[in-house]
Formats: sequence, structure tokens, C-alpha cells
Amino acid sequence: MPRTLNIIGGGKVGMTLGRLWAAGGSLAPIQICNRSPESARQAAAFIGAGAPVDTLDQMEPADVWMLAVPDDALPAVAAALAGAGTVSEGAVVFHCSGALSSEVLAPLARLGAACASVHPIRSFADPAQAAVAFDGTFCGIEGDARALALLEPAFTDIGGRCVAVDARHKTVYHAAAVFASNYLVTLLDVAQHAYQKAGVDPDHALRMLEPLVRGTVDNVFRAGTTQALTGPIARGDLGTAVRQYRAVKDWDEQYGNLYKQMAKLTADIARRRRSG
Ligand SMILES: NC(=O)c1ccc[n+]([C@@H]2O[C@H](COP(=O)([O-])OP(=O)(O)OC[C@H]3O[C@@H](n4cnc5c(N)ncnc54)[C@H](OP(=O)(O)O)[C@@H]3O)[C@@H](O)[C@H]2O)c1
Repeated sequence: MPRTLNIIGGGKVGMTLGRLWAAGGSLAPIQICNRSPESARQAAAFIGAGAPVDTLDQMEPADVWMLAVPDDALPAVAAALAGAGTVSEGAVVFHCSGALSSEVLAPLARLGAACASVHPIRSFADPAQAAVAFDGTFCGIEGDARALALLEPAFTDIGGRCVAVDARHKTVYHAAAVFASNYLVTLLDVAQHAYQKAGVDPDHALRMLEPLVRGTVDNVFRAGTTQALTGPIARGDLGTAVRQYRAVKDWDEQYGNLYKQMAKLTADIARRRRSG
């Protein structure tokens, strides 16, 4: 018998997960609360279950509450939901933010709710596509053990792969994705500019980087970061590294600083490899 689920924030994530559970998971959406009635109606139609509402005081009790509102709205929504008096002692409440821990749900925990966060690590830009592709999605989970005992199987049912995260380091956890995804783009942008500085047009620069980057990424996921490292610092060719640093710094101060910082971290990896 599925547990009842209230969704506060039927946006990209709320709609996607709601649709997956409504299609036969262990949670049954009963109400979807958005700020505007039209948006709530659209979310309920997409999910295929649940009644649309646009204020918290219209909500009925449920076994599980998912708060899929923007991160900045979470503290206020948690406080307002606690004030509404609908969340019963023993109910499970969770949010989906990667940047905030379940601590932000403290007003609800004080009422006796079991609070957690479950952060699905994927882009939900297109909910219809995300629902189809959700199978195999890693989810970083942390919080009250009673909440996780219910949420882990509920996410596993719809294809999630749950991994425990230390709540005290949730912000650093979230930075991992920023390093691997956002800052990788930034590094490639710097590399493209370096080729351009040497007279290569931007389009050729990107095409020249492609096999290098794909090969490196394949090596990292096949052998790990320590074994995948190549280049002057890995070889102990420090003269080349110092010359390169000076040339980059002369060309662009910021890129020079970046090169120096990356060189130090790269030397650490090289040392790890030599000692391992
Ligand atoms: N998007 C992603 O790829 C992604 C990936 C992993 C995790 N997350 C996390 O998932 C959560 C939701 O993100 P999202 O991208 O789904 O956001 P979103 O598409 O912007 O949707 C947010 C929803 O929350 C509703 N809302 C906002 N303030 C509200 C309030 N005070 N009371 C009730 N409803 C409110 C909005 O209603 P209206 O439509 O009426 O404005 C909207 O339906 C965030 O914590 C985010 O960090 C997002």
C-alpha cells in the first residue's frame, strides 16, 4: 500500500519525481502546492495524480512531504509549514537541495517530523525527459534514520541510487559537482583561449581539445585520478612547468594564478602516485 505524499513545489524536480511515484512507486501524490493556482494545476496534470492547491493552509495531512521549492525559499517554507500545524508527529519531510542540509527543516523536526534531504544528481531542465531518464540517477541522502528508512526504498523503486552523505559537509559535497561540471567548463574555456593566443581560431581550438579531453576523462573513470595524470608535472619535468607558468602569467595575470594553483595540486597527485 503506497504512503501518501504531499508535494510543496511542483516545479521541475517536484513534477518529475511526482510523475514517477504516481506511475506505480511506493508514494502516492495527494496534493501539489505551488504559489499560483495555474502552476499547481499544470503540475498536477503532468504528475497525473494529486489535487492542486496554492496555499499551505489548504493542505491535508500526509505520510510524506516533499519540499521541492527553490533553495532560497526552503527556510521560509519550512517555517510556514510548521506554523500551519498540518504535519503530524512521525510524518517524513524531505527536501531535494544539494546545497542545503536537512538542518533547514529544523522547525518541522521540532514538531516530531522525521526530516531528511534527498538530492538527485542530474539536470531536471526538461521534466518529461528527466522522468524517462531518471533510472540510475545517484541521489545524495542524509538525515533522520527513520526518514531515510522510508525514503531510500521509495527512491530506489523509481530508479534512484542512494548514497549516504555527511550532513555536516553538505556544502562541500555540493561543491564536488561544481568542480567537476561547472569548473571543468571554465578550465576548457581557459584552454581554448590559450590556443587562440597562439593563433588558432576558436572553432579549431575546441575541436583540438576534444580528443584530449575525452581521452583524459575516459582514463580518469577507468583508472582513477592518480593513474590518469600525465604531462610535465607527472613526469617531474619542473623546468617546463615553471617556464609555462611565467609565459601564462605574462599573457594573463588571472590565468597565471590559476596555473600556479593547479600546478601545486597536480604536484600533490604526482607525489601520491610516486609514493603509492
Ligand atoms: N533543477 C534541477 O536540475 C535540480 C537538480 C537537483 C536538485 N534540485 C533541487 O530541487 C529543488 C527544486 O528545484 P526546481 O529546479 O524543481 O525548482 P523550480 O522548477 O523553480 O520549481 C520550484 C517550484 O516551487 C514553487 N514554489 C516556490 N516558492 C514557493 C512557496 N513559497 N510555496 C510553495 N511553492 C513554492 C514554485 O511554484 P510556482 O510555479 O507557482 O512559482 C515552483 O513550482 C531545489 O532545492 C533545487 O536545488 C534541482
